[in-house]
Amino acid sequence: MLEAKDLGFTYGNGYLFRALSLRVLPGEAWAVLGPSGSGKTTLLHLLAGLLPLQEGEVYWEGEAIRGLSEGQLARKRLRFLGLVFQHHFLFPELTALENVLAPGYLTGRVDREFGLWLLGRLGLAARADYLPQRLSGGERQRVAVARALYLKPRLLLADEPTASLDRHQAREVLGLMRELSREVGAALLLSTHDASLVEGLPALWL
Ligand SMILES: Nc1ncnc2c1ncn2[C@@H]1O[C@H](COP(=O)(O)OP(=O)(O)OP(=O)(O)O)[C@@H](O)[C@H]1O
Ligand SMILES: [Mg+2]
Repeated sequence: MLEAKDLGFTYGNGYLFRALSLRVLPGEAWAVLGPSGSGKTTLLHLLAGLLPLQEGEVYWEGEAIRGLSEGQLARKRLRFLGLVFQHHFLFPELTALENVLAPGYLTGRVDREFGLWLLGRLGLAARADYLPQRLSGGERQRVAVARALYLKPRLLLADEPTASLDRHQAREVLGLMRELSREVGAALLLSTHDASLVEGLPALWL
């Protein structure tokens, strides 16, 4: 479903990684592990088509993304991928619910009920009408997870989604991400520098 073959990448002073291959099948959950600076963000950006490939290929549902135009990538990404970044990147002027529904405005699939259901499953039913500035860090990150899952992507790709949270919140958000991605039918690939948070998940070390 997501496949990378022989990826190699350098910013110009030595390879960050080379001959890196991975395959994520439907329903699977994977962790990308490595210390700060090891290339986790770079790898996830390559997998998401947000950074031009150097060596190797990335396939989304069997289709090589090399050579797709920005527009083609953006359209495919909308259906294929849900993205959660280290920083939540919520729209500050939209409420929690409006943030979750935002991808729906782009695709004509605005389903308030489903948005509210997602927020409810993430423990945020009472926060639907809050602006991001009134939410805690963990709450914001959970809104970002709900938004990333709103279009029921095939894959949820999350780059250190819990880096700004304390341990307790990090465990809670990770648990909810695993549960909810399973419920909407999305595979999960997340990066973290903290291996103890993802015990039990198959892992790729950078
Ligand atoms: N645009 C860039 N130009 C040059 N070097 C870069 C660029 N982006 C990242 N790097 C370098 O590449 C290396 C890997 O960066 P990357 O952000 O992928 O690591 P990371 O594993 O995500 O780190 P962290 O855990 O701190 O988020 C780092 O040494 C970083 O300084
Ligand atoms: Mg990073």
